[in-house]
Amino acid sequence: MTEAWDRSPPLRLLPAQARIEVLDQTRLPIDHVHVSLDTLSDCALAISSMLVRGAPLIGLTGAGGLAVAVSSDPGDAALTRAVELLAGTRPTAVNLRWALERMRDRLLVAPVPERRALAWQLAGALQTAEHACCEAIGVHGAGLIRDAWRNERVAARGCVNILTHCNAGWLATGAWGTALAPVYRAWRDGIPVHVWVDETRPRNQGARLTAWELREAGIPHTLVVDNAAGHLMQHGEVDICFVGSDRTTASGDVCNKIGTYQKALAAADNRIPFHVALPVSTIDWSIDDGIDGIPIESRSEDEILLQEGMSDCGTVHLIRQSPPGTRAANPAFDVTPARLVSSLVCEHGVFPASRDALAPLRAMAVHGRAAL
Ligand code: MRU
Repeated sequence: MTEAWDRSPPLRLLPAQARIEVLDQTRLPIDHVHVSLDTLSDCALAISSMLVRGAPLIGLTGAGGLAVAVSSDPGDAALTRAVELLAGTRPTAVNLRWALERMRDRLLVAPVPERRALAWQLAGALQTAEHACCEAIGVHGAGLIRDAWRNERVAARGCVNILTHCNAGWLATGAWGTALAPVYRAWRDGIPVHVWVDETRPRNQGARLTAWELREAGIPHTLVVDNAAGHLMQHGEVDICFVGSDRTTASGDVCNKIGTYQKALAAADNRIPFHVALPVSTIDWSIDDGIDGIPIESRSEDEILLQEGMSDCGTVHLIRQSPPGTRAANPAFDVTPARLVSSLVCEHGVFPASRDALAPLRAMAVHGRAAL
């Protein structure tokens, strides 16, 4: 079976041409175009302007960008500068720095003439590993959806209603996704699912990207405004929530797209399981308290003041809804405290969101770092 992400990879490494290609996600769902990134600055701009987005994919694009940079100058100084430039493009998703530092540590100890080939090899290995993690997340997370399907009330309705926020599908990772991986796996296993897709203002990753992914896969879904989730939960219309994460702390606090915290509060009030799906590379072991410790990206106010859309005749327009001169604040992420998280679903299984429960993963992560 050819997967959607094989037909249209969000990121393609092209070592022979010393460049990478990405699917321009700022154009979806209106246009479906791949863009060539030929230089380090092309790669940095693609991340900061969100042609690519989603924590794992940002990390993989950073790794590809470093390989592009090393292909033109493999020396120590250029390599270190490239790491800093790429790492500075988006501050919140930890996978970016994680991938760059892993590559840098390996490249700096390699002989200079060997660095070009090694950089592409490492970027490829990270990509393969990340995709395998997402597939495993799908298997573990689908078990939770299967459990929900066993509930009599859910069976009587005829489908499991899943709520998700932002886009944590294959567009955000390169394959499967994190929060959507369990949905894809459950659907393939024959469990009837329906997904409530939060619009996810201001950039509308739910409306533009998650709705597009689910439509491509033929999975039933309904778009809702961000404020609808609490109401749906109160009326028994949500059985289980799955979201992704941009950075999770050693104690299980979860940083994800702005609005995630409010969904978690509503889920807790209605006793609905709120699961976070993430590869272990998204855990920042150096931080304990997410609210104090995680840097929250603040993006341009134009993302709120101007909305892009297509008229019925197919023309793309930017529209302004608020009075000219209105100021906007645009924090892009928020932190959901561990106490509101039912479980963290990662490539190694389903874990309670607590420091003690995550300790074995920490030991594995240290071991894995040494192995790459
Ligand atoms: O600003 P974005 O679109 O990069 O934010 C993405 C998210 O918040 C996702 O939910 C998160 O990265 C998890 S993606 C697997």
